[in-house]
Amino acid sequence: MDASLQQIVDEAAAALATATESASLANAKARFLGKDGLVTQRMKGLGKLTPQERSVAGRELNEAKQAIEGLVTARELELEQLELNARLAQEAVDVTLPGRGYGTGGLHPITQTIERIEAIFGSIGFDVADGPEIEEDFYNFTALNTPENHPARSMHDTFYVDARDANGHDLLLRTHTSPMQIRYARMHKPPIKVIAPGKTYRVDSDATHSPMFHQFEGLWVDENISFTDLKSVYTDFLRQFFETDELDVRFRPSYFPFTEPSAEIDMRFHVGPLAGRWLEVSGSGQVHPNVIRNIGLDPERYIGFAFGSGVERLAMLRYGVGDLRLFYENDLRFLAQFNR
Ligand code: PHE
Repeated sequence: MDASLQQIVDEAAAALATATESASLANAKARFLGKDGLVTQRMKGLGKLTPQERSVAGRELNEAKQAIEGLVTARELELEQLELNARLAQEAVDVTLPGRGYGTGGLHPITQTIERIEAIFGSIGFDVADGPEIEEDFYNFTALNTPENHPARSMHDTFYVDARDANGHDLLLRTHTSPMQIRYARMHKPPIKVIAPGKTYRVDSDATHSPMFHQFEGLWVDENISFTDLKSVYTDFLRQFFETDELDVRFRPSYFPFTEPSAEIDMRFHVGPLAGRWLEVSGSGQVHPNVIRNIGLDPERYIGFAFGSGVERLAMLRYGVGDLRLFYENDLRFLAQFNR
């Protein structure tokens, strides 16, 4: 091969060897075999040669062209292999690494508390019922004898839902579990003994209030029951819940539109860090005659007692948790403590 032609082939080999991806490879190829490539230019010059010179030069040019094409193909394969190796190295899985371990899940402390409450009331004959969190204005307020101008109905206290149900009823996120008094009592005949735990919502947020929190409603409707029955049942519940008889319970006069008379239930531990302090744990009262009528019963014949207690409140007292928000930050260091 003509020395200058051999030099072109050597140059091509060097250029191709430095190409590291398909674009630079294509550029290098074009420099020699493209329309204005070095080899192509020479081919164009063949016409000026004598027939004899042309056949020698033509053959040599073809050899050079084939040599370069061979180099291109070889480099292409090489680059593909390099790319594959790089990808394999990057995506490599070290199967000898130790496993991450299997953590067992557990129930949230509030769920555990609700189950505990259900078990205690269940053991003394209370049914457990569940109701909607998106509630009708009627069940949350109207049927509970709560007048139009009651502050609980204000926008500052209640999350209203910007839609109505299929029957055109105004909707809201229930502010308490008390609507379950109406829903359950309308579907069951006395004697009625039920608790209804679940989520409730209010426009409220600080260390002791969360916009979403839990309550459990209690309703007891029968013919010959009195406040003493309510007090003994609730006291017994608290003693079982806190696993101690060393606590007192008092009923402190209060007001709710749907009970008359109404009372806050306070409790006091004899021992422990909170000993001696009265702690409010529940609203309660005798179901208002209007509410007894709203559930379709005769208030002259039936007496009802109701209570609505805060689940978080009881959980905080039982576990000694100072800030209610801890329950909802989902920090496993906090939550895991309840599942050991
Ligand atoms: N629903 C009342 C509240 O959330 C509590 C309550 C329930 C009071 C039942 C009386 C009877 O504050």
